[in-house]
Amino acid sequence: MTEIKRIAVLTSGGDAAGMNPCIRSVVRTAMAHGIDTYGVEYGYQGLIDNNIAHLNSRAVSGIINRGGTILYTARCKEFAESKGREKAYKNLRKHKVDALVVIGGDGSYTGAEEFYREMRFPVICIPGTIDNDIAGTEYTIGYDTAVNVAVEAIDKIRDTATSHGRLFVVEVMGRHAGYIALEVGIAAGAEEIIMPEVPADLDAIVDTIESGRARGKRSSIIVVAEGSQFGGGEEVAKMIEGKTGYTIRYTILGHMQRGGSPTCRERLMASRFGYEAVMGLLTKRYGTAVGIMKGEITYTPLADAIKKLPRIRAADLAMLKALSK
Ligand code: F6P
Repeated sequence: MTEIKRIAVLTSGGDAAGMNPCIRSVVRTAMAHGIDTYGVEYGYQGLIDNNIAHLNSRAVSGIINRGGTILYTARCKEFAESKGREKAYKNLRKHKVDALVVIGGDGSYTGAEEFYREMRFPVICIPGTIDNDIAGTEYTIGYDTAVNVAVEAIDKIRDTATSHGRLFVVEVMGRHAGYIALEVGIAAGAEEIIMPEVPADLDAIVDTIESGRARGKRSSIIVVAEGSQFGGGEEVAKMIEGKTGYTIRYTILGHMQRGGSPTCRERLMASRFGYEAVMGLLTKRYGTAVGIMKGEITYTPLADAIKKLPRIRAADLAMLKALSK
């Protein structure tokens, strides 16, 4: 591959606020460097189905503030097989596409890594998932909006919890990761946070809640990551009810965390990642994922970016104990 003249971009896996400003950044950065961009609809499925069309500058007008993804997204099983990837490769070549930009989470990275390794086709990935669980980057697109949506929701729940003197359990997303739960819990002033990375003891949690009540606390919020050792919010609420006899309400925030207008930080990070992905292709950083570590842009080989890394800081857990008193 000598020179890149035409690239394709797709969004894959769970949508995340910030995908649109990222697509806009890819298209416009490419344009500024004399490169044409093609958009692929419905992620890898669109590559297999040849759902690929040219995107000009106007096609990405007015989307910087919009949640979701104008390219749509999908989780595609067919791309996990060689046959699917071969079809995708042929369609990309049909459109004379020289390189592919994938915006997605760990499942999408796995597909991109296999595609790059098998087809030797230039690929670069951009972290796009609310879970913030990708190695080689401290930020993934969608995270900031998701945690802000969750904190705003919990603030509202706190009003009703205080009015009734109730204990609420709130379940947040994150799949197998507890990062959303940790940061949302701290920012919303939760009494307890239950997340997959940290073994929890329900008796100790009940003690904390009861001693808080004895000190005059009117309400208590427990934030639970959907992938916790006990299950989700409903399971935790039932277990605590069984141990205390309290009437507990639980709320599952669910997919509302994925939607909404991207925050300022989100738009900025999405724009940066889109820009750096195109720059990465121009400097032949194929088979890598763009990221940011300690304020510096990084390019991590896809094989490393798909490894799981624990991200929960012990200091945050100690802080939570002190602040929730
Ligand atoms: O990976 C993003 C995410 O929102 C996870 O937090 C959640 O577990 C999952 O996607 C839900 O997936 P789906 O939209 O397919 O139900």
